[in-house]
Amino acid sequence: MNVSNCKVIDLPKIQDPRGNLTFIEGNAHVPFDIRRVYYLYDVPGGAERGGHAHKGLSQLIVAMSGSFDVVLDDGTEKRRIHLNRSYQGLYVCPMIWRELDNFSSGSVCMVLASNVYEESDYFRDYSSYIAARSE
Ligand code: TYD
Repeated sequence: MNVSNCKVIDLPKIQDPRGNLTFIEGNAHVPFDIRRVYYLYDVPGGAERGGHAHKGLSQLIVAMSGSFDVVLDDGTEKRRIHLNRSYQGLYVCPMIWRELDNFSSGSVCMVLASNVYEESDYFRDYSSYIAARSE
């Protein structure tokens, strides 16, 4: 599972003069069952989130409002992706170190996840993550 397995997914967008609509179905628009939704908001200017990798979790990260950057790192390749569209999501496969920064004022980052919250699924230490990758 490398950075090259992560990609920006274009979600369905129903355009309407009354306002646009986007929907996401598990195992259809994202390659996993959606078991959890969480979101980051009221992020102060200059703050950084993430700073960890997941052992088994798959995620889709969506800029519901405003914009931010996601930096993906697999120990070999590093890629910075700017998210600023409500109809696009960044698919992040398991075993990818990620950091989120450059949050615009009032931005909302929604994350769809393939499993419920489990602290044991995290690598929070970069050197342990790199060590596990080379096992
Ligand atoms: P963390 O995943 O480190 O946040 P981020 O990656 O967005 O910077 O989680 C921050 C805290 O919130 C941590 O104490 C665990 C808790 N948390 C939950 O209890 N449930 C959840 O679904 C998530 C994502 C985090």
